[in-house]
Order: sequence, then C-alpha cells, then structure tokens
Amino acid sequence: MSASGDLASRIADALTNASTDVGVAPDVDALRRVANAHTGKGSVLVGLKSSLGSITDVEARKAAGRAINEALQTLEALVAERLTGLEVAAASAAAAGEAMDLTEHLARRSRGHAHIVTQAWERLEDVFVGMGFKVAEGPEVETDFHNFTALNMPPNHPARSGFDTLFVKYGSPGSTLLRTHTSPVQIRVMQEWDLPIYAVMPGRVFRRDTPDATHMPVFHQIEGLVIDKGITFAHLAGTIEAFTKAFFGSEFSSRLRPNYFPFTEPSAEFDVRSSSGKWIELGGCGMVHPNVLKAGGVDPEVYTGFAFGFGIDRMAKERHNVADLRDMYANDLRFMRQF
Ligand code: DAH
Repeated sequence: MSASGDLASRIADALTNASTDVGVAPDVDALRRVANAHTGKGSVLVGLKSSLGSITDVEARKAAGRAINEALQTLEALVAERLTGLEVAAASAAAAGEAMDLTEHLARRSRGHAHIVTQAWERLEDVFVGMGFKVAEGPEVETDFHNFTALNMPPNHPARSGFDTLFVKYGSPGSTLLRTHTSPVQIRVMQEWDLPIYAVMPGRVFRRDTPDATHMPVFHQIEGLVIDKGITFAHLAGTIEAFTKAFFGSEFSSRLRPNYFPFTEPSAEFDVRSSSGKWIELGGCGMVHPNVLKAGGVDPEVYTGFAFGFGIDRMAKERHNVADLRDMYANDLRFMRQF
C-alpha cells in the first residue's frame, strides 16, 4: 500500500470513529466534548494535518490536505446536524412536562357560600357606598355613656328599660354593656370624624330576649348617620326612598309613620311595600336630636342631621321567606344549602 493510500484509510477511519461518537452523544455538552476530541488540537485528523510536511510529492501533499479538510468539514456538518436534533428533543421534552391534559378530570369541590345575614349585610353596605356613604364599625362591648346617655337617655330615663340590656359591669358611673343597638356608633363617628358625615354602621347587637320565631338575643343592625349644613327631613325621606328602590327593586316604595325615639326629633318608623301591596316594618329614623349632636361634639346651631337604624336579620328573613329566625342560627346545613 502506498503512503497516500495508507493516509486515506487513516482519514476514513478517523471520520468513521468520529461520526459514531457524534451519533451517540446523549446531550449537547457531550456533543461539544466529542466534537472537540475529533476536530481539536489533540485529534487524529489535526495530527495527520501536521504530518503532511513529510510528503515530498507536491500534488500528493495537496491531495492529502484536501482530503483531511473535507473530512473535517464533513465532521462539522455532522456535529451541527446532531446539535439541532438534540436541541429539538430537549425543547419538546420540556414542552411535554408543561403540557395540559385536557382530558384530566378533577372532582368538583364544594365551596359553600356566605350566611344569608352576611349576604344581606354586604349588599346593604354596597348600596349605601354606592350612594356616597362610608362604612364605620364600633365595639360590641360599649360604655353606658355611648349606648344610652349620649343618645339622650340619661340614667333613669324610662326608654332605657325598653332595651333589655345585658350588662358586663353594672354600677354607676361607668357601666359597660353588650351594645343593645348600633346607635352608639353614631356618637363615636361624630367624635372621631371630620364634618360633614355620611356614614353607615353595620354590626352585631345584643338583648336579653328569649329566642322565638321573631327574636334572637344576638342579632344585627345597620345604622345610618348624615350630618351636614342644611339637612332636613326631606333629605331623610328621599334617602330612605332611594335606598328602598336600590336595595329591593324599583317596584318597591317606602313610607314614614310618626314614632318616638329619644335620640331623634321628630322620629318616624319606616316601612317598605312591594308590588304585592304588603307593608313590612323595617326600622326607625328621624332628625338627630340636638342633645345627641352636642354629646358628639357637633354644634346644633350650625349643623343638622338625620339617622336611621334597622335590623339586618329581619331583611334576610323576609327576602328568603324564612318562617323562624332560629333556623338561621341552628347551623343545619340542610337548611343553609337552600340559599
Ligand atoms: N336604635 C333603634 C333601635 O334599636 C333604632 C333606631 C331608631 C335607630 C331611630 C336610629 C333612629 O338611628 O334614628 O330600636
């Protein structure tokens, strides 16, 4: 075998070995190492190239050089092709890991829903916030002052006996009690907020009542308070009517009947009527009594205002046609799930 024939077979062997290694390189890093081993400084092909000087025949030397370069180019093309293949495989493996299985079925979880009193509470807040009111809350354990005295019911006032109060600490002065209504929050808002005031105050209230179909010792009210310059009874009536239509629907209307509360003068009871013609008594309201304004630190010569308060449980009961208030608090899921 001639010297050039021997060289040709060494080039062919080197190319065969290299292409086998390239074909089995498992990933991009391995491929880089293989490519370097077969085309880099220490590789067989580069070694052959540097031994070309020993070939004396010029034409034979050129031919050998061309053959080595072709082998190197072939090898580079194989590496590039393998690299593309490995990258595509890696990308589709990653995509497979992220793919959604649209046939997968997860059992539906039962999420429950808010209690019907909470639903009514939140809707009431929404309607009043939509009318420009802000929401305030006060403490459930109140002072005798905020619950009674500041609301124009000084010690020994006969109206106090109508509230069936649960006292926490009894003794004068400084009794504390579970608030019997949300009206004391009126005083706190007047004391703490800047004027004018447009506020609603929802909350839990307490009375020493035996539970029956229409009474619970723990129930909920929402209080309203507006104080500004030039507020009249017409603003009160208009607000009650606008609220009635926004909350119950445009087929409902409201009416006011004269009544008495110590903290308002004049005072009224307000009822709403549906298109069916049935009147439902909702709550009390009136013009804030000057003594109440004074107790809240507001000058009654400059400001006037109106207030209202009504029961939230009653509204939930009417809305869902619940016959007995006690059912709403028995925590029987068969009852609660109906709503
Ligand atoms: N606080 C009264 C009650 O619980 C309801 C009430 C009546 C609130 C008239 C008011 C009002 O703000 O003006 O019976």
